[in-house]
Amino acid sequence: MMASVNDIRTAFLDFFKSKGHTIMASSPLVPQNDPTLMFTNAGMVQFKNVFTGAENPPDPPRAVTSQKCVRAGGKHNDLDNVGYTARHHTFFEMLGNFSFGDYFKEQAISHAWELLTGDFAINKDKLLVTVYHTDDEARALWRKIAGLSDDRIISIPTSDNFWSMGDTGPCGPCSEIFYDHGEHIWGGIPGSPEEDGDRWIEIWNLVFMQFERHADGSQTSLPKPSIDTGMGLERISAVLQGVHDNYDIDLFKTLIAASESLTGVKAEGDKRASHRVIADHIRASSFLIADGVTPSNEGRGYVLRRIMRRAMRHAHMLGAREPLLHRIAPVLIEEMGAAYPQLRRAEAFITSTLEQEEVRFRRTLGRGLALLEEESAGLSNGEELSGKAAFQLYDTYGFPIDLTQDVLRARGIGVDMAGFNAAMDEQKALARAAWAGSGEAGTDAVWLTLKDEQGGSEFLGYAQNEASGQLAAIVVDGERQDVLSAGQNGELVFNQTPFYAESGGQAGDHGTIRFDSGAVFEVDDTLKRAGAIHGHKGRLVFGQIKLGDAATLAIDTERRAAIRANHSATHLMHAALQNVLGPHVTQKGSLVEADRLRFDFAHGAGLTRAEIDAIEAEVNAVVRQNTEASTRLMTPDEAIAEGAMALFGEKYGEEVRVLAMGRKLDHTPKSYSVELCGGTHVGRTGDIGSFVILSEGAVAAGVRRIEAATGQAALDHLKAEAALARAAAEPLKAQLPDLPARIEALIAERKRLEKELTDAKQKLALGGGGGAAATLEEINGVKLDARILEGIGAKDLRPMVNEAIQKLGTGVVAYVATADGKAAVAVASTVGSVNAVDLVKAAVTAMGGQGGGGKPDFAQGGAPTADAVEAGLAAVKAAMGI
Ligand code: ALA
Repeated sequence: MMASVNDIRTAFLDFFKSKGHTIMASSPLVPQNDPTLMFTNAGMVQFKNVFTGAENPPDPPRAVTSQKCVRAGGKHNDLDNVGYTARHHTFFEMLGNFSFGDYFKEQAISHAWELLTGDFAINKDKLLVTVYHTDDEARALWRKIAGLSDDRIISIPTSDNFWSMGDTGPCGPCSEIFYDHGEHIWGGIPGSPEEDGDRWIEIWNLVFMQFERHADGSQTSLPKPSIDTGMGLERISAVLQGVHDNYDIDLFKTLIAASESLTGVKAEGDKRASHRVIADHIRASSFLIADGVTPSNEGRGYVLRRIMRRAMRHAHMLGAREPLLHRIAPVLIEEMGAAYPQLRRAEAFITSTLEQEEVRFRRTLGRGLALLEEESAGLSNGEELSGKAAFQLYDTYGFPIDLTQDVLRARGIGVDMAGFNAAMDEQKALARAAWAGSGEAGTDAVWLTLKDEQGGSEFLGYAQNEASGQLAAIVVDGERQDVLSAGQNGELVFNQTPFYAESGGQAGDHGTIRFDSGAVFEVDDTLKRAGAIHGHKGRLVFGQIKLGDAATLAIDTERRAAIRANHSATHLMHAALQNVLGPHVTQKGSLVEADRLRFDFAHGAGLTRAEIDAIEAEVNAVVRQNTEASTRLMTPDEAIAEGAMALFGEKYGEEVRVLAMGRKLDHTPKSYSVELCGGTHVGRTGDIGSFVILSEGAVAAGVRRIEAATGQAALDHLKAEAALARAAAEPLKAQLPDLPARIEALIAERKRLEKELTDAKQKLALGGGGGAAATLEEINGVKLDARILEGIGAKDLRPMVNEAIQKLGTGVVAYVATADGKAAVAVASTVGSVNAVDLVKAAVTAMGGQGGGGKPDFAQGGAPTADAVEAGLAAVKAAMGI
């Protein structure tokens, strides 16, 4: 049976495993240790630091990989050729074996020869090799090991046989192995005038890594000579499957068959290229999305968008009128998911991202193509479309410039790029003027200039906690400078960063930036500048840095994990508030920090304990579901149409991330929370750990504020409360469950004792216990009971006076009382000629107080001191005497 692509990949890995190599996973397409590289474009990229000696080699110092590579955008860009040639791909797999200072040329050559002519059983006569013209050692080894005659070992004096990763990095002479696809195909051996023909195809490149190239152009020797090899899986599969064209291998046949069946159009004649474009681009797009790249208008996201839209245009050419790519993705994932499990994990994200992008592009694609048709109607081969038209297609219809070029290519028509660039610059200037008009220009001038020059910072922090970056700007006190020295504060800008810049209520990241030079910068905040640039604020604690320096940027992951949990919990709480309090609850403000979250929302009344309990219970139930949080990209309108909660009046970009978490608690098959959000979130709801509301209160009329905590902070809070309860129970020697009853009993006891005490004091004051004797006298024929009562407060005076007047019947009762250094007076009168109010006022005045009042039959007053109570009582008597 013919070996499939999957079999061949496995055979390669197993062969080198049997030779003492460790099978290692492919690294992601977004390079993690190289700031200058847009995409991983070779197998050695993940080992770059091992080759240069910056990292220790693995043990044993041999590895074998099948590496995902993208060559689109950036330095290696094959995008334009894909579909029209037999061997160009935007995405491909590179098989490679590596020796880190272990074996060198001899073993690399003998392994390669053994695999090709042994396990893979390729006829030796079909192979020839090239060597770098000065590399006599390699030539001798090929002769010895493979028995190749000299005319099959071709010296190449050019950089074709001196491989380097890029302008800088590890490099060395290389030896390439070529396969002869047969006389029936035009082409010549390497170095011949016909070498560009398709007959002799390079299948394997053995690089003898010996040097490191530096930014200043100099070259130094690597600590130990090493081996890096690269064999395109698609090419070797074509050889082993007996086909000449990469697109005829089993994997591509399957993808093209899916594209044929979904479009109902055969891959024949002028339709062949379109099917190939779709088959190639679905691979690149799906793998990029699985590695966290999402379509956008800048950087890697824009390369992805260009790839996706190019495929969509070709689907349109095949007559597809409904989104197509997301229906092919599952076929790809079926084929490649076993070798690359991240494809399976990201399947939902891949298909939804593809579909949304296609739905959106289809809205303008038809009209854009019509416009392009119209604008280019009068042009013939060799002429150019105006830059203005190309820009309109870009700006209004979402046509990347290479898409426009792709459409015109078949007719030999180009695009006036100078005109296109001029139109682009003009638009930037307008955008800048509009921003300047918004009033933020003064302080932000430096940032706006930076944004114009460099565009925004690419944010890698959805997928990575650590990434490499290249220093693009240093800003100190609003001024740019070229260097920063130890001890200085400043704000650093990199081309890309995993640091989240404060926005949408989520705090900016903290962390450490280590420069390749050894310099270290501590970041204590990250701010979003000019809406797009991530400014890393902090201090250079060691070394010196200058523009262009490369560094590894690492966020404080523990802090970010806490922020993620709090941010996701904010979404869940928002949904819970709506469920418990009603749909009127809308967000009025939000702050997400590491130790807590704060959320302001519209609601008319304070929350009851039962409501708070219900909200906490819902959020914790969704936390325990521990379902995956899913993110999709869409336009704001699409997101809102899908029921995502959006903030009214908030300005959203062209693309929004839509985060869905949890399942509805009533078991309907819907997400618990769906919300637009650019922040960073947990992978699964269980990562939130636990959720507790710390406080609830009012901030303004109709606006409430909740503070809450998650994870360890929530537990800490609960533990602190439990400790308080224990502290309260301890002096009572009570068990915690008995505490409320014991406290209630204590309060009742206290009330009873207070009452007893008051009664006793009254008795004492009234003389019952040998206190002040009753002094009943008569003034002007009216009976008067007048006393000074010590230790009786104003509150207790009234009932005492009432009781006394009842006993007395007709007459006047006037009591002056003192307690806590204050005086009070109360008078009752059942005699029409004596007005209680007059008596009280006289007493109050005499005692140095003010006011006092009531009715003719009862009045009360007081004074701030108890110094003149005798005078007060005398004044009462005097007033009665008048
Ligand atoms: N790194 C070498 C290449 O990409 C093997 O060709």
